Amino acid sequence: MVTIAPSILAADFAAFGAEIAAVEAEGADWIHVDVMDGHFVPNITFGPQTCAAIRPHIRTLMDVHLMIAPVDPFIDAFAAAGADILTAHVEAGPHIHRTLQAIRAAGCRPGVALNPGTPVEAVRPVLDLVDLVCVMTVNPGFGGQSFIDTCLPKVAQLRAWAPHLHIEIDGGVGPGNARRLVEAGADVLVAGSSVFKGGSVADPAPYGQNIRAI
Ligand code: DX5
Ligand code: ZN
Repeated sequence: MVTIAPSILAADFAAFGAEIAAVEAEGADWIHVDVMDGHFVPNITFGPQTCAAIRPHIRTLMDVHLMIAPVDPFIDAFAAAGADILTAHVEAGPHIHRTLQAIRAAGCRPGVALNPGTPVEAVRPVLDLVDLVCVMTVNPGFGGQSFIDTCLPKVAQLRAWAPHLHIEIDGGVGPGNARRLVEAGADVLVAGSSVFKGGSVADPAPYGQNIRAI
């Protein structure tokens, strides 16, 4: 059973509620929410207020990917906004262990993400603290980038270390590579441009076709 998590980074930012309803009606399993601060990554999206505003429109699960540094001062705000999964980057600060404990204490399921340039060993010491590992297969900050193949061996290694965890792949996922990502051990696929392309709130049928193609 593979979980497909459309990233609303590729949706119409003026219509998040309707976009979420559309992809959920078309078969999305989770909604992936990309938070960027213009500091940890070279782009800015939105923060906890927007997450709180979209939460009532999500019937499935809000998977919040924090591409921000620092993380700790904002954990309570994202928890209050209704994040189900709250994922922090291992590169976002010197105290990822504390950060992940704080996320759990705030009532969210913790995830840890790692960039393409980060060795998989970097997350091993915190695997007992998380419910999910997010393997970035693009350099975070933008949708629509090409999948970086050299990241894939990390997935098999993580699956061997942690059979019980969700292993999520984020970046450049589409019908052309989804099968081998699942074969490598991933069970959650984030997909932005490959889900939202060709459709709209007015015509969401392509979303469903795109989800089923993955
Ligand atoms: C990238 C984000 C991804 C992004 C994926 O920084 O974390 O979630 O939306 O977009 P695609 O699927 O277009 O690569
Ligand atoms: Zn993401």
